[in-house]
Amino acid sequence: MKTTLPPGPRWTLPATLRLIRDPYATLRELRAEYGDLVTFPSPNGRVVLAMTPELVKPIFTASPDHFGAWAVGTTSVVLGPRSLIVSEGETHKRDRKLLTPAFHGARMRAYGDAMRTLARRRFETAMQPGATVTMQDVTTDITMDVILRTVFGVGEGAAFDEGRALMGEIVRGMSPLLFFSKASHTPLFPPWRRFVRIRERFRAWLDARIAEARARGDEGDDVLAMMLAARYDDGSAMSDDDVAAQLVTLLFAGHETTAIALAWAMHWLGRHPDALALVRAEIASVGIDADPEVIAKLPYLSAVCDETLRLHPIVTENLRMLRKPLALGGYTIPPGIGVAAAIGAIHADPAIYPEPDAFRPERFLDRKYGAFEHLPFGGGHRRCIGAAFAEYEMRLALAVLVDGWDVELVHRHERPVRRSVTLGPAHGVPVKVIGRRAGLRAAA
Ligand code: HEM
Repeated sequence: MKTTLPPGPRWTLPATLRLIRDPYATLRELRAEYGDLVTFPSPNGRVVLAMTPELVKPIFTASPDHFGAWAVGTTSVVLGPRSLIVSEGETHKRDRKLLTPAFHGARMRAYGDAMRTLARRRFETAMQPGATVTMQDVTTDITMDVILRTVFGVGEGAAFDEGRALMGEIVRGMSPLLFFSKASHTPLFPPWRRFVRIRERFRAWLDARIAEARARGDEGDDVLAMMLAARYDDGSAMSDDDVAAQLVTLLFAGHETTAIALAWAMHWLGRHPDALALVRAEIASVGIDADPEVIAKLPYLSAVCDETLRLHPIVTENLRMLRKPLALGGYTIPPGIGVAAAIGAIHADPAIYPEPDAFRPERFLDRKYGAFEHLPFGGGHRRCIGAAFAEYEMRLALAVLVDGWDVELVHRHERPVRRSVTLGPAHGVPVKVIGRRAGLRAAA
């Protein structure tokens, strides 16, 4: 076992700027330049990137006590120290166990109708014939509505409008720097001042929702109601502070990601009329108003979503901090170094995905990809807790859109750009609305 770290670029600034500018290409080039394990000099410390499924496996299967969370210093100030994203060890295990039932596949049946109804409501307002609509704006509205309804239990009325406005303000005013540098957490930095001001108002709104949910008892079918009803192994419940931290986490982790994925899916279907026709035929075979479970399991629609997340992983590296030495590809990586699966590189590996730059949903029908090969939701003990939720929402919202409207892409090419931790299409996928499709008119 080698005690040195794997090779990689030397200087933080040029390497980071390169990764920010073109993350997908940079990950591939790093692999070509340095090999399957690359040490990357990130601003938050050195990270060993695993570029193959074989090297990802030891990371995802090692015992959780090898790892802590990444960039805890900055992220915990924004999301709260008990947020699932930054908690570690026993705390992470306990909280994750408490939250998991609300995101279990079986729960999706309860959220499916709301997801479809809320998607339809937003599309009906936005998709006026002749209008040019930025897909990511509409899909962001949808994913926020869905979080409000399914996580916070607020479907309409004054609390909904207020929550929607506050969430919009928080997200619009947010600077990626707040997640990357503690130096930005100063009253001298306007986005921080703005964030602190809105955070207080948002906390008051959250407290009102928590109080309402407590008063309702455990009758609600939303994540908040389940969180309040859940008990740790010792019989205790989550405190209001901890509930609030997880709610904010779910908002941040759960809306922009799915909104971007939906915008990319529409981009690729816009470029591939053959694939669009297949999705539409599949939806028509069951009817758009079929049980959400039936829609969410349609094979070609699912393959379109899987292929979209392969071509455009929204998180390109899932970082963890090593707390114990880890044996990896002939090296012993010491504690204090980050490790990550280079999701963007693995998804672009021609040995796993022939013609990796082509949009070919069929590949997911022809072959079953393993957990270390197709990993848009990361993996191991920190795998995205909302993966089933995101997949369900993506399939239902995309089905409503393609079944209901004809659109034309404004740009045939969209460049991915890094926003904060996520990557999204540079223009947000603007489309020209041609009009309503006959199928939905007949059903309406
Ligand atoms: C297409 C949409 C989404 C993508 C691509 C995505 C991707 C990811 C990735 C890559 C991670 C890191 C996993 C790792 O470290 O191995 C993650 C973590 C997480 N995601 Fe998602 N996510 C999506 C949607 C959602 C949704 C809808 C929710 C909740 C409503 C959610 C909640 C979370 C949480 C709480 C974590 C932290 C889990 C932990 O550290 O234990 N995500 N997500």
